Amino acid sequence: MYLMVFKQGQAALSASLTAISGMYEDNLYLSNLYEYLEQPVEAETGTLTQGALPGDGLRFEHVSFSYPGGAHVLHDISLHLTPGQSLALVGENGSGKTTLIKLLTRLYHPYTREDFIRR
Ligand SMILES: Nc1ncnc2c1ncn2[C@@H]1O[C@H](COP(=O)(O)OP(=O)(O)O)[C@@H](O)[C@H]1O
Ligand SMILES: [Mg+2]
Repeated sequence: MYLMVFKQGQAALSASLTAISGMYEDNLYLSNLYEYLEQPVEAETGTLTQGALPGDGLRFEHVSFSYPGGAHVLHDISLHLTPGQSLALVGENGSGKTTLIKLLTRLYHPYTREDFIRR
């Protein structure tokens, strides 16, 4: 009888310890999340809702990019994609495909050739 109660107590204690360690782990993820959410957001500039030439498509004119403190990832890229046109982007791992897409969607700001030379 006492042994059973002791075993139950042991199981309950072990479950509590597991729960506490889980909470500690979750808290680490949460602190990352809060740190991320506290990043300052750049103020929006301009009011344009479309480009200078609507229907022209997407253009890259001598676009270069490097990550802060990193090597130059893209160098002097020019392309013109017309609406409805498909383009396959092929390259080795780390060659800059994702970076190019992030620039296209303006998640990153491109460098102009002049910025690039100045660095
Ligand atoms: N956030 C980042 N900070 C610093 N360097 C990065 C970052 N993201 C990618 N890179 C570097 O930029 C290069 C291009 O990466 P990426 O655009 O992800 O290539 P791909 O999508 O073609 O595999 C790689 O050398 C990669 O290490
Ligand atoms: Mg990628």
